[in-house]
Amino acid sequence: RKPVSLPRLGEMRARGEKIAMLTAYDATFAALADGAGVDCILIGDSLGMVCQGRHSTVGVTLEAMRYHTECVAHGVRRVQGTAWVVSDLPFGSYQESREQALRSAAVLMEAGAHMVKLEGGGWTTDTVRFLVERGIPVCAHLGLTPQTVHALGGYRVQGRGDEAATRMRADAHALADAGAALLVLEMVPAQLAAALTAELPHCATIGIGAGRGTAGQVLVMHDMLGMNLGRMARFVRNFMQDADGVSAAMAAYVRAVKDGSFPDDALHAW
Ligand code: KIV
Ligand code: NA
Repeated sequence: RKPVSLPRLGEMRARGEKIAMLTAYDATFAALADGAGVDCILIGDSLGMVCQGRHSTVGVTLEAMRYHTECVAHGVRRVQGTAWVVSDLPFGSYQESREQALRSAAVLMEAGAHMVKLEGGGWTTDTVRFLVERGIPVCAHLGLTPQTVHALGGYRVQGRGDEAATRMRADAHALADAGAALLVLEMVPAQLAAALTAELPHCATIGIGAGRGTAGQVLVMHDMLGMNLGRMARFVRNFMQDADGVSAAMAAYVRAVKDGSFPDDALHAW
């Protein structure tokens, strides 16, 4: 397998090959994901829940993200090292200014990330452009943005209704124009996510709870392995159910994303 790079992600998007993304927070799971054919490994700030036992991602620090990014990067390098490594800019590390965002992004890139992800709509486009122009690939994130859960009023579907959809469409186009190469759409109606995917040929949408019409999919690894402390979200599938181990479950996830059998709109979307 050739290493996944920014041009290769663009080729996959153009070809219609689905991009399989999975979170990982440590070296062993990252190496297993890489070996299972996962295209993109995300060090998500969901580590606040998964590793730290928090109720939200709001308390995750840049230092925590740096540490876990380093662990994952070491793990990927221990094996084939083909996966594209994306790391979340945590709450408070990029909101202040584009300069602050660049300093924070540099910490994650130095720890081994290939790309950083940040949450938010139009107000982030200036920052996205600033980072991209300086050689830092950026993944944007719209829909349910967990860092702003308190402003959103809970973990619920976003972009429902004409007004909300229009706003999300404007945000998505602005972020793509600013140079975001990937765009996570979290808990977005399937129809809207599919429409945005078709409208943005140079930015690959990665869905989570956003139906099957996106250019790729992402899940929190612990969720798809059936390991969850709380209630399992409806958009998750437990890939351990029919697998005889973690690697097999990850490989089944990659297969299901690539052949379009995950997600199932009837079960995993709105
Ligand atoms: O933190 C995370 O794991 C994420 C994904 C769910 C997209 O942002
Ligand atoms: Na995140």
